[in-house]
Amino acid sequence: MSTRIGIVTGGGDCPGLNAVIRAVGKSASKRGWDTVGFIGGLEGLLEPVQFRLLDYKAMDGLLLRGGTILGTSNKGRFVAKSGHGEVQKISEDILAAAKKNVEILGLRGLIIVGGDGTLTIAQQLFEIGVPVVGVPKTIDNDLEATVMTFGFDSAVDCATDALDRLHTTAESHNRVIVLEVMGRYAGWIALHAGIAGGGDVILIPEIPFNYESVCSKIAERGAQGKHFTLVVVAEGARAKGGDFVTSGPQESNREARLGGIGAMVAGEIQKRAHKETRVCVLGHLQRGGGPTTFDRLLCTVFGVKAVQLIADEQFGYMVASRPPEIVGVKISEAVGRLRTVPPNGEMVHAARSLGISFGDS
Ligand code: F6P
Repeated sequence: MSTRIGIVTGGGDCPGLNAVIRAVGKSASKRGWDTVGFIGGLEGLLEPVQFRLLDYKAMDGLLLRGGTILGTSNKGRFVAKSGHGEVQKISEDILAAAKKNVEILGLRGLIIVGGDGTLTIAQQLFEIGVPVVGVPKTIDNDLEATVMTFGFDSAVDCATDALDRLHTTAESHNRVIVLEVMGRYAGWIALHAGIAGGGDVILIPEIPFNYESVCSKIAERGAQGKHFTLVVVAEGARAKGGDFVTSGPQESNREARLGGIGAMVAGEIQKRAHKETRVCVLGHLQRGGGPTTFDRLLCTVFGVKAVQLIADEQFGYMVASRPPEIVGVKISEAVGRLRTVPPNGEMVHAARSLGISFGDS
């Protein structure tokens, strides 16, 4: 049986990709296997095939390093989602070409690290016979099958740090400051960072808001002698009856780029509440840099488990966190099922109990 495996990172990057590569490379090497890493995302599987050998030496310094040493892409011939998440079938020729190269390289298994879009492609490759194992990645934490994706904790940490900083300047100037965070159609980053960073208003896609409610929270704080307010807005949040706000025109064969709701909310607050208001868009800072301690651990156990799944020939599975266990779940049952914030869940309840507004009263 072959002693060579492959790994590829697809979709948007996030902190911890290199920590997964390291865990895969090291645990494979302990078994006496070689690991090859495909360059530039799934495109690296196509002609001219681009890969590099990930020997033990190549693992040096990867635990802390941001981004992915293999490169990644969320465009090109392997896009499985477009618009607001509509699934697309990858061309049969493209899938077959990738399969052929996996066979030529004699891979015992191919680890595909990615979010819902990339794992959708992984499933299509598995269906034509590629021995695929998935690892769930995304700062959005929006995959139903796993309690946590890696990258999320690091993104929340970044957004919480931003709120700590915005807090002091908002208070000094008696301003409202709106922080727009990522998360696509899920409000996890906004919710967790909003609570951890002492936000006063949290606007998430799962709870449509109205401006009257947001402004009445600002007025309520003013009446209590607090003349500043921190508003955390998820990029996918929308006013009741409103549309998603996107930045720029829709590119064909790409997912919609959400963004701009922060500026819109800030403008409305300034107009309606007559408060000096500023907006800060955190953007790709949330995806840059190295992983937190928690993410380093999660990436490590995910990478080790992925190699184990290959050893057990559990192809078509992805690793998932189901505390206290790390398990394998069928990719086919994991993709297309987004995990969004339950509007009546414990975390929202805790926030409301502290007086945090979701702009829906
Ligand atoms: O899915 C991760 C994510 O960072 C989203 O939160 C965000 O909407 C999107 O990717 C941004 O992607 P891009 O890399 O195309 O700017």
